[in-house]
Amino acid sequence: MKQQKQYMTNQAGAPVGDNQNSITAGSRGPTLIQDVHLLEKLAHFNRERIPERVVHAKGAGAHGYFEVTNDVTAYTKAAFLSEVGKRTPMFARFSTVAGEKGSADSVRDPRGFALKFYTEEGNYDLVGNNTPVFFVRDAIKFPDFIHTQKRNPATNLKDPNAVWDFFSLSPESLHQVTILHSDRGIPATFRHMNGYGSHTFKWTNAQGESFWVKYHFKTEQGIKNMDEATGQKLAGENPDHATEDLYVSIDNGDFPTWKLYVQIMPLEDADTYRFDPFDVTKVWSHKDYPLVEVGRMVLDRNPDNYFAEVEQAAFSPGTLVPGIDVSPDKMLQGRLFAYSDAHRYRVGANHEMLPINRPRADVEVRNYQRDGAMRFDQNGGGSVNYEPNSFNGPQATPENKQAAYPVSGIADSVAYDHHDHFTQAGDLYRLMPEDEKTRLIDNIVGSMKGVASDEIKLRQIEHFYKADPEYGQRVADGLGLSVPANA
Ligand code: HEM
Repeated sequence: MKQQKQYMTNQAGAPVGDNQNSITAGSRGPTLIQDVHLLEKLAHFNRERIPERVVHAKGAGAHGYFEVTNDVTAYTKAAFLSEVGKRTPMFARFSTVAGEKGSADSVRDPRGFALKFYTEEGNYDLVGNNTPVFFVRDAIKFPDFIHTQKRNPATNLKDPNAVWDFFSLSPESLHQVTILHSDRGIPATFRHMNGYGSHTFKWTNAQGESFWVKYHFKTEQGIKNMDEATGQKLAGENPDHATEDLYVSIDNGDFPTWKLYVQIMPLEDADTYRFDPFDVTKVWSHKDYPLVEVGRMVLDRNPDNYFAEVEQAAFSPGTLVPGIDVSPDKMLQGRLFAYSDAHRYRVGANHEMLPINRPRADVEVRNYQRDGAMRFDQNGGGSVNYEPNSFNGPQATPENKQAAYPVSGIADSVAYDHHDHFTQAGDLYRLMPEDEKTRLIDNIVGSMKGVASDEIKLRQIEHFYKADPEYGQRVADGLGLSVPANA
């Protein structure tokens, strides 16, 4: 079809005379600085990159919606969950954790499962993973942990010594280390994995009653994983296979879906449960707290532009709506600072104004924040920019305060009081069929073989042994070592 030609402009909108030949002094002469179009083009190109995410740099995203399928108003007053059948637009981003922006999708690594719900009460973000637990349980340990997953400062290589040194000195990681080296450690695609909020959150209903909750998104495509050899082969052949799979599936009208369930714990149970329910290295027993259905997530639209919608997307565990709140989980509390801080550095002070991050059109943003780099709306115009004021400026609504709850204690740097890192890891091992146990051991041995120090290997074997003597023995056998006498 013949289309009318569009004329090219510079960034200021003026027509460009030549985009193929720079202005030179004569046909063979040097380039003239007066070619301002050339200068603009080269300078803008130099600034095309923004910092990649410090973790979860490689990812893929898609738009969709969430539909409520079960009445949960007894537990939360969140408006987007208020009615069966209600639909809320959303955006999801899936990712690997440790690799750079160009790294392979098929590595053994947790997968990020970040969701943004564009609700009528503003945005709600749930920034989870494909695993229900995490490696550490205090935010103060996170930067050190991530350093061990990234590159060695001298060699710039991935470093199994650092990985297993940290794990062996952080026994709370054992549960997640077992999941990571199990079949679920390499999901076949982003569509074939579950998502978890991992932390405990708090829901509050219209009567002011609160509950502790954990989120479980179950894939309706079924769980599918990839073995180590296939993952490594694919990392060379098609490092973007999961990115491609998500895009192509949606493009073909094969929309991936997940069912959301929550576990609900009465507030007072937290004091008497057999371990700290805010410890993100533990799962709650489904017998104690069975799954309650909430709704269904459908991803049905690809981004039009990767940078605008996926790279600039900014998810934060602190982006909450009335009826959904945080718990005292020490990791979660640290994350409340880390994400928005990362966004201000990576995208800018006004990142929430970008189309992918701003609330939906029927939600107006009203506050006294003004100015900052790249403030590209009306910036509040002439309206009052301070509070209290006599000019009918926006006011806080006490009914939307975070639900109050009692705390007490001595302010101190205190370790968790629960030291059983072994029962849940051992239960998971014992649950695995024999062939998966063998793959688990092979994956662990394959990774630990790269560790130079026997001291580190033996310290880690001790943890496996404490989870299950057979688990420890088989890793020791695989590494040609004996289980330490004190295990
Ligand atoms: C991304 C910090 C724990 C899931 C990030 C980013 C930071 C960060 C700084 C990059 C954000 C950006 O540039 O947009 C932390 C800290 C943690 C922590 C300090 C512990 C204290 C966790 C846990 C989970 C998780 C426990 C899952 C349960 C994610 C996901 C992303 C992410 C999914 C990618 C979000 C996206 O797709 O844009 N994290 N993280 N993180 N984190 Fe964490």
